[in-house]
Amino acid sequence: MSSSYSTTAEALEAARQRFTERNLASLKLHNEATESLPGGNTRSVLYSAPFPVFMNSGKGYQVFSEDGHIYTDLVAELTAGLYGHSQPHILSTLQSTLTETGLNLGATTKLEMQHARLLCERFGLGRVRFTNSGTEATLHAIMGARKYTGRRKIVVFGGGYHGACFFFCEGGSAENNVDREDWIIARYNDIEDAKSKIESHATEIAAVLVEGMQGSGPCIVGDHEFLLAVQESARKIGAVFIFDEVMTSRLAPGGLQEIVGLKPDITTLGKWLGGGITFGAFGGREDMMQVYDPRVQGGLAHSGTFNNNTLGMAAGHAGLSQVYTADVAVEFNKTGDKFRKKLQEVSKGTKMTVTGLGTILGIHWLVDGRKELRTLEDRREDKGLLELFWLEMLEDGFWITQRGSLALILGTPEGELDRFVEVVKKFLEKYKTLVEVR
Ligand SMILES: Cc1ncc(COP(=O)(O)O)c(C=O)c1O
Repeated sequence: MSSSYSTTAEALEAARQRFTERNLASLKLHNEATESLPGGNTRSVLYSAPFPVFMNSGKGYQVFSEDGHIYTDLVAELTAGLYGHSQPHILSTLQSTLTETGLNLGATTKLEMQHARLLCERFGLGRVRFTNSGTEATLHAIMGARKYTGRRKIVVFGGGYHGACFFFCEGGSAENNVDREDWIIARYNDIEDAKSKIESHATEIAAVLVEGMQGSGPCIVGDHEFLLAVQESARKIGAVFIFDEVMTSRLAPGGLQEIVGLKPDITTLGKWLGGGITFGAFGGREDMMQVYDPRVQGGLAHSGTFNNNTLGMAAGHAGLSQVYTADVAVEFNKTGDKFRKKLQEVSKGTKMTVTGLGTILGIHWLVDGRKELRTLEDRREDKGLLELFWLEMLEDGFWITQRGSLALILGTPEGELDRFVEVVKKFLEKYKTLVEVR
């Protein structure tokens, strides 16, 4: 049945009101949280208007809110929650690590060695180092590239996100980025611009840093030819080609680079590869990673209290060796592709556009309803519809990010994914006059 609202603003107002009434416990907690956290928030991406929903717990593919609502979790911790909230192998590994190994031992352990070995095998890395987050992986990959090349500048791409202080948003380099004068920002998916930016500064560039799919877009997919051309251009000028797989490593057994046929010098990793525990890693060519070999005089130090934390090393290894095996990765991403195609089918002719690869998706609400996004500038958002969609999906029991990024949790029943498609269809019918492209 279609709604009686003649404007998105009216529909939004009513949906916000329903949201507030359904989530009074969250509202109360949010107000309390603002007394000790700026805006009640400690992770910007999780802030949502009119106020955030407070979650109480999660199990399997579901999360449970403080207001007593049950949601199918399509946030999946922004891709890091691949295994869900209680995957039996991960759970028993964490429990046995706690009881038999202990928390950090202030020493080198077999745990980091075995996880490193598996990561090297799976992602074709010569050597790897662990960090506490993807942000740190970016940071140390860049510092290593600078040391290796003796150069300073880094080429990145508009719309790219490589961590909390490495964001190249609409206005260029984000205000809180580190080394703001050292970035050269090229257009994503634009081979000519990339080549010209890389090759015209040849002697100054330490590294070229790119994502195969820009996760914060959400999900602006890189053309294979573009990514291969960027790699070639970086090689041509002797810069380190760093491929950010913090999000995309789950898309194939050997990450997105395997699908595209790339051979990065350095790959950055993170998120799910710690089995749900804080994690990051960077690795690749042995000669480049040697700058971090403590036996070599004049190398770089790279410390971090929790780099080899026992829980992340053990859970990451258990997940990769026993749960997210190569075959599982292939099948899971087929499920994701099927899901995305169904959503694309139901949203034809509307302002809703679905992008992504495998188990990572972006849902956009665009004023012009264009179906392909090649750069962030192509994205002319209808912010009202974006929020309305979020509010309504929550009402129907789906937990998604307000910005429209989705990721799948292993073991989510296909019936739930189909139900999401039905709920989306219902939304599009209900707001037919608001969502159609004029
Ligand atoms: C592509 C990419 N790189 C790096 C990062 C930073 O990872 P972390 O949040 O673990 O610092 C993220 C996080 O979302 C990411 O998506």
